[in-house]
Amino acid sequence: MKEVKIESTLTVFESFDELPKDVVSLMNKASEARLKAYAPYSKFLVGAAILLDNGEVITGNNQENASYPSGLCAERTAIYYAGAQFPEAKIVKMALTAGSQMQQTVSPIPPCGACRQAIAEYEVKQEAPIEIYFMGETGKIVKSTSLANLLPLGFDRSFL
Ligand code: THU
Repeated sequence: MKEVKIESTLTVFESFDELPKDVVSLMNKASEARLKAYAPYSKFLVGAAILLDNGEVITGNNQENASYPSGLCAERTAIYYAGAQFPEAKIVKMALTAGSQMQQTVSPIPPCGACRQAIAEYEVKQEAPIEIYFMGETGKIVKSTSLANLLPLGFDRSFL
């Protein structure tokens, strides 16, 4: 028997001032998308912006439904649109921002497990890492250089 230790390294930026300019621009687009989210039930608005290697920026937000499980997260709304419109393009980076209408969201909000699985699929498909930046409405921004960092022991096509 042996123990296996799994570690991830993330970078934490204290504020926008520390971010590269292109990421500030991507995060601003994610914030614009967040404000257009359809989240009447949770009142938790999420925005995602995806930069593709062809220069296109795709945005998405969460779309809720009276039948709760029929709704979809911002990340998957955006990434499936990107996959549908630009199947040959690689995803370079994603910016995510989330905020509640009930209180100010100041801590970084990571993507949910289902979205991590969805993003992981594209990382495998394109054989290149996707940089992920996530934050609340304000405050610190967390960067992961790859989705794999956020989903240890992931399930992928190699098991099929
Ligand atoms: N949500 C996202 O859009 N992305 C996530 O990664 C976490 C959760 C949405 C789903 C639902 O509309 C609301 O946030 C509350 O869970």
